[in-house]
Amino acid sequence: MGALPWLLLLLLFQEADGDSGDGVETKEVAAVLQESISLPLEIPLDEEVESIIWFSHRRLATVVPGKGGHPGTITVTDPKYQGRVSFLEPTFSLHISNLSWEDSGSYQAQVNLRTSQIFTTQHYNLHVYRRLSEPHLTVKFEISGEEGTCTMSLACSIEKAGLDVTYSWISWEDGTATAHEGSVLSTSWRPGDKTLLYTCRASNPVSNASSRPIPAGPFCAGTRAPGENTDSRT
Ligand SMILES: *[C@@H]1O[C@H](CO)[C@@H](O)[C@H](O)[C@H]1NC(C)=O
Ligand SMILES: *[C@@H]1O[C@H](CO)[C@@H](O)[C@H](O)[C@H]1NC(C)=O
Repeated sequence: MGALPWLLLLLLFQEADGDSGDGVETKEVAAVLQESISLPLEIPLDEEVESIIWFSHRRLATVVPGKGGHPGTITVTDPKYQGRVSFLEPTFSLHISNLSWEDSGSYQAQVNLRTSQIFTTQHYNLHVYRRLSEPHLTVKFEISGEEGTCTMSLACSIEKAGLDVTYSWISWEDGTATAHEGSVLSTSWRPGDKTLLYTCRASNPVSNASSRPIPAGPFCAGTRAPGENTDSRT
C-alpha cells in the first residue's frame, strides 16, 4: 500500500481520538515527591498491541505484551528509572515510585498496534509537588492614634513550598468564616473590638495545610493603655 492511504488512516485515527487543534491532548498529572504515581494508559481493547514504548526526556522503557498467557517482556532503557518503574496490566500504565523533582516533565506512550500497523501516542505532563508542612506565621503590628488602634500585618509562608501554592487567610467572627486571598493580610484591631481569630490556609495541587488559629488582640495588648479591658480570649 502506498503512503497516502496510511496517512489518511492516521488522520482518521487522530480525529477519532478527539484531539484538540494542535493534534495533541496532554494529561496533566500531579504527584507527591518521594511517593508514587501511575500514568494511565488507554489502549484499544479490540486491537492487539505489538509493543508500548514509554518516553520521558528520552526512551524510558519498552513493553512487549505476552501472548497466550505468557508473560511479556519489559526493558527499562533509562537508568534513572531502573528499579522504580512497573507496568500495570492490562493496559501497561506506567507506575513510577519514589518520585524526585527530576521526574517532572513530559512523558509519552507510543502504542504500536499489530493489526492496523499504526501507532497512537499519549502525552502526559507530570508535576511533582511536596506535601505542604504547617505554615509559618509572622505578625507585625503598630499602635497608632488616640484610640490605640492596632494595625496588623499577618504574613504566612511555608519553607520550600515549591510551585503552585496558594495562600488564604480565614478570619473567624462569631463562628462565621471570611476568606481573604493572599499570603499577607492587613487588618486592624482596637481595644474593645470583638475577638477575631485568624487561620492561614495553604494549598497546592496535592495537599493543603492550615495554621493554628491566632487571635488578633494579644499581639497588640502589650502596648495598650492600662486599665482597658482588652482580654481577647474567648
Ligand atoms: C528515593 O530516592 C532518593 C534519591 O532521590 C534516595 O536517596 C532514596 O534512598 C530513595 N528511597 C527509596 C525507598 O528507594
Ligand atoms: C485538604 O486535605 C485533606 C487531606 O489532607 C482533604 O481531605 C481535603 O479535602 C483538602 N481540602 C481542600 C480544600 O483541598
